[in-house]
Amino acid sequence: MAVFCKAVADGLLLTLSLALLGWGAEGQGNGRGMREVSGRATVYLGQDRDIWRPLIHTTVNLSEISSIKSSFQLRTFDPEGIIFYGDTKNGEDWFVLSLRDGIPLMQISKGDMLVSVVGGPKLNDGKWHTLEVSNHGKFVILEVDGSNGLVVGMQSKQTEEFISGQLRLALGGILIDKEKMIVQFEPQMDGCVREGSWLNISVPWETEAEELRPCYQNIQPGSYFPGTGFAIFNTSVSPTEADNEVKIELWGDFSQMDGTILSINAPGQELMFALMVNNNTKEITIFAEDKITTKNYNKRLAITIQADSLTVIQEDDESTAIYIFSHPGYLTTWREGRLAIGGLLGEGEDNVGSQFLTGCLKKIQVQGKDLDLDLAVKHMSISSHSCPA
Ligand SMILES: *[C@@H]1O[C@H](CO)[C@@H](O)[C@H](O)[C@H]1NC(C)=O
Ligand SMILES: *[C@@H]1O[C@H](CO)[C@@H](O)[C@H](O)[C@H]1NC(C)=O
Ligand SMILES: *[C@@H]1O[C@H](CO)[C@@H](O)[C@H](O)[C@H]1NC(C)=O
Ligand SMILES: *[C@@H]1O[C@H](CO)[C@@H](O)[C@H](O)[C@H]1NC(C)=O
Repeated sequence: MAVFCKAVADGLLLTLSLALLGWGAEGQGNGRGMREVSGRATVYLGQDRDIWRPLIHTTVNLSEISSIKSSFQLRTFDPEGIIFYGDTKNGEDWFVLSLRDGIPLMQISKGDMLVSVVGGPKLNDGKWHTLEVSNHGKFVILEVDGSNGLVVGMQSKQTEEFISGQLRLALGGILIDKEKMIVQFEPQMDGCVREGSWLNISVPWETEAEELRPCYQNIQPGSYFPGTGFAIFNTSVSPTEADNEVKIELWGDFSQMDGTILSINAPGQELMFALMVNNNTKEITIFAEDKITTKNYNKRLAITIQADSLTVIQEDDESTAIYIFSHPGYLTTWREGRLAIGGLLGEGEDNVGSQFLTGCLKKIQVQGKDLDLDLAVKHMSISSHSCPA
């Protein structure tokens, strides 16, 4: 393990994270500021980085490749994101596998051909699925759980050239300009890959990440906040120009949470609204025009913002409580402002406490549509589409 020690603290941290991932002595430094990872390692793809940048990658000489098959397992609740990338000729020919609406999407560029194909089963059900990508002559085949998911045939009018040189593989990102793809998509993927077998090569993969986050043993749908950060949305981009009210709904077991659930403010203004839950007192604090502390009805919270009023509804199976606040300009503040999930916006708000949320929000909707935390500016500790079960 001594190979890791740039500094003692650094080494300790890395040893700890590697131990968590169960890599043990598999990880090795390689003297280029990269850390080595086994291709079979379990990799959490949702880790913080430049969103298109691969989390791990490897390079092999084509002459060493004996198999045309890569297989791995994937587990996610996320409907959209990048999974796996491969290229030859330094990115001239490439392959991208991603999910859109939970369904596999393959995009391939080879010589003068550029193809995109989507199909196969929905994979974002939180279960482990085995994916296998192989190349048989003119066909690229994607198998899902042992059955054919997608078959793409490509024939060029140009003569086939013998390919030599190197092949690059990457997980969680691409090595080409995203504009080259036919179908654009959101790359962030809250998902986990394991048991990779990549063209039967055993060379280690490399990562630039300081530490690789482990995957949760079991997951359930939701957004998980471990109490170390929050997510911020720009409300000016939400489709409310024509609407005269905004409805935000949150589902979860609020009796199992602690900290700030949500807050809203506009730059340079005082905090407009916040919802806090206290795990010790089992109470919820609503901060708007007044500060109200209420019993925790633990199933659903709905906030409706209108021009000069704000309504909070708390619900569980038995009861409903409604709180109405009035103040001119609520909707204007919303439109100019920011929405934070899991933390408090602004400074100097000591009176309401600023603790980050710990807990699982099962669902968050704005105007009846699921809010995708992948589109927020968010702390890396938050998983956008899964909670530990
Ligand atoms: C791959 O090929 C290059 C040159 O073609 C060579 O320098 C390098 O050592 C080879 N790598 C391996 C792992 O064999
Ligand atoms: C994969 O590699 C192993 C040894 O590295 C070899 O025994 C096996 O036959 C290879 N499988 C394929 C399909 O090439
Ligand atoms: C929010 O949107 C405005 C206008 O589009 C932009 O100026 C601002 O930088 C954005 N803020 C964030 C945090 O994305
Ligand atoms: C809530 O309190 C219980 C009992 O004190 C504790 O076990 C649990 O970890 C707390 N949960 C959170 C999210 O703080």
